[in-house]
Amino acid sequence: MSDLKKIKEEFILKLNKKLNLENINQVKSELFGKNGIISSQFKNIGKIKESERKKFASELNLIKDDLQNLINSKINEIENSEINKKLDKEKIDVTLPERPFIKGKIHPVSQTIDEISSIFSEIGFNVEEGPDVENEYNNFTALNTPDNHPARDMHDTFYLDEKKQKLLRTHTSPVQIRTMLKGKPPFKIIAPGRTYRSDSDQTHAPMFHQVEGLYIDKNINMGHLKGCLNYFIKEFFEVNKIKMRFRPSHFPFTEPSAEVDIGYEIKDGKIVIGEGDKWLEILGCGMVHPNVLKNVKVDIEKYQGYAFGIGIDRLAMLKYGINDLRAFFDCDYRWLNHFGFDPLDVPTNYRGLSR
Ligand code: PHE
Repeated sequence: MSDLKKIKEEFILKLNKKLNLENINQVKSELFGKNGIISSQFKNIGKIKESERKKFASELNLIKDDLQNLINSKINEIENSEINKKLDKEKIDVTLPERPFIKGKIHPVSQTIDEISSIFSEIGFNVEEGPDVENEYNNFTALNTPDNHPARDMHDTFYLDEKKQKLLRTHTSPVQIRTMLKGKPPFKIIAPGRTYRSDSDQTHAPMFHQVEGLYIDKNINMGHLKGCLNYFIKEFFEVNKIKMRFRPSHFPFTEPSAEVDIGYEIKDGKIVIGEGDKWLEILGCGMVHPNVLKNVKVDIEKYQGYAFGIGIDRLAMLKYGINDLRAFFDCDYRWLNHFGFDPLDVPTNYRGLSR
């Protein structure tokens, strides 16, 4: 047997033993490494007698190919068996039932804010926002409610510092101030958001929601205010007729001021809006006090207008038949599931998305 054949036999035997990847690579470098057995044979070709050189070279090439093929197939075998082992271990059971998919619900307050915003935006109001943490100037002083004014006590304010400079806003009215300070009249905005007072019972929560309205332009009067609110209430409750009354009231930032009640009755245990002889207070409003306009540098000779503040949670309670305000903020999933809105259902008077 030629030397080359012996080499071939020897290495075939070696490679057919049970080897791991590392062993095979070792054999590979023994054969084909820089000073490997096959590599050295190639270097020898030149030294071989010319008459035998061709035969030797072709035999060497064949052996090299055979051994290389064998090594490659062994490596393949090992890699495949490792993949198979892994697949066996990490098998995914596709027959497993999928996890239940729970669709979230829109909170009735968010839903109501969306509805209110879309109704007012149809008649030209822009939506503005302000921060929950306010300074006392925007919340009180600029709104014509100076220090020691009794209205300050009525608000049960949550102050955030000892000097009573920072507070959780007690109403959305400071957004009037922010809006007028940063722009020029006319102003026609609504500002929905959270408000805070230290108060809690069936119809009061320490955190609640209001929407502020402000319309300042030339020649705006109480009639416009009444028309606007009348339109809003009818749209919101989806009724053609509404009983509404303006009751004289007092707010430091409006003059004259009024509270608005809507007529309702209870039929079969349900509230029916716009009929009956019961009255429910839903908002405060009035003509913006000249002192407020002066504080924000609006020329009171040229401009005037109205403002209103509506309790959003109350409107939501009325429209959706919810009788305890505190449930809104209990974060009880079962409650939300019952009273919440399907994100894909568009209510009849909700025009925000459908147009
Ligand atoms: N800010 C008042 C409140 O919280 C409501 C209001 C707003 C009244 C605007 C008049 C004008 O009670």
